[in-house]
Amino acid sequence: MTQQDASAKAVRDGFTSSFGVLAATLGSAVGLGNIWKFPYLTGANGGAGFLVVYLLATLLVGLPVMISEIMLGRAAKRDAVTTLVQFSPRGQPWWLVGAFGVLAAFLIMAFYSEVAAWVFAYVFKAIGGSILSSDPAVTSAAFGQLVSDPVQSLLWQWLVLAFIGGILLMGVSKGIEAVTKKLMPILFLLLIVLCVRSLMLPGAAEGLSFLFTPDFSKISGAVILTAMGLAFFKLSIGMGTMITYGSYFRDDQNIPATTVRVMAADLFVSMLAGIAIFPAVFSFGFEPAAGPSLVFITIPAVFASMPFGHVFMVLFFVLTAIAATGAMLSILEVPVSVLNGRFGISRPKAVVATLLLLALIGSTCALSGSLLADFKLFGFNMFDLFDEVSSKLIMPAGGIALCLFVGWVWGFDKMKAELSNHGALTNEALLRKLFFLLRYVTPLLVLAVMLSGLGLI
Ligand code: PHE
Repeated sequence: MTQQDASAKAVRDGFTSSFGVLAATLGSAVGLGNIWKFPYLTGANGGAGFLVVYLLATLLVGLPVMISEIMLGRAAKRDAVTTLVQFSPRGQPWWLVGAFGVLAAFLIMAFYSEVAAWVFAYVFKAIGGSILSSDPAVTSAAFGQLVSDPVQSLLWQWLVLAFIGGILLMGVSKGIEAVTKKLMPILFLLLIVLCVRSLMLPGAAEGLSFLFTPDFSKISGAVILTAMGLAFFKLSIGMGTMITYGSYFRDDQNIPATTVRVMAADLFVSMLAGIAIFPAVFSFGFEPAAGPSLVFITIPAVFASMPFGHVFMVLFFVLTAIAATGAMLSILEVPVSVLNGRFGISRPKAVVATLLLLALIGSTCALSGSLLADFKLFGFNMFDLFDEVSSKLIMPAGGIALCLFVGWVWGFDKMKAELSNHGALTNEALLRKLFFLLRYVTPLLVLAVMLSGLGLI
């Protein structure tokens, strides 16, 4: 390392406390994935059977990949591209994982910021009471009106982007860490309040049994790929986010333990979201398989049907907005840190450049319910296309590459040094199992699921 490198490392911003590491990392994992995607995918794919497959994907794929990413990031203390450049043997293009990660960050943010835009808009609509109706035809018309209005869609998306950009400008410790440390506890509190409310409704048991009684008849190759894609998306892995956040980890942080904690807490949030949503949906006789609009059409109608529904609906959308915020910070941090760390562009300029490009790409999603409604590629509108390509192609492929890189290029000794904090932790037996997974099991599993889900085998 040159002296210049060393001093760059010394002044590099990062997370300052152990709780901060946890809050920021969990803030990245928890997001619209838990509150919007998880319930609608579980609802549309048969409930508990889907849940079991998702749990397996989280354990066998999510956990090893997430640990690997954080480990590489912390070892390099660099952005996602530079980390892989730095560790690759000469001439091997592993940095492509980082480059595709930057691409995935834009694709994901393009649709994510639009769903977040609806959520932020709904916070205000919920306060004003305009979406409060127990008739799904009315809530559906209200949602349709928002989605099909190009001006509203774009403006809310830009507002969201500006809000996230503002936090990113404050930096890693004073922005991302400080904000997520405040928001995560509020998120848990709100979620628990909503769960208790939902469980007290008559007929809640039916919703619970939908969530917890497995029926495997709906499981197909495509459904397994969907569940695995969800695991990647949920844990923010396969696209450099966790490499980037790992680079902000403290050197004394126990990476495997932190990862397990984040994974468990993230699952817990998804479960709570399921428990807050499905009993209420069943109790008032709504359709659990409503799809992406579940949160925006069914949920307002459900809230309108219950006493004090107005208050709970506001809480629900505030909670969802909080969840989306932590996740968006981490998605955008990938390109921002690459522009800053790799290309030497100052952080403020990197944030602004990223946001401008995103406003452009994102507008194709914001307008996919209005001006671009008929514009399709491979049979998908831009919104769905970006979602499918990132969750089912780029992230799993990135996951395979990362496993192979750690298992076959980086090797056990370096992994052990980094994950034991250079001998401070005794976890060798565990690391051996992890290494076995990374070398053989996880990459083959992901490959098989991708091929079968895409109908290639
Ligand atoms: N994990 C986030 C969620 O579930 C989404 C996300 C994907 C965040 C990829 C970062 C990277 O909402």
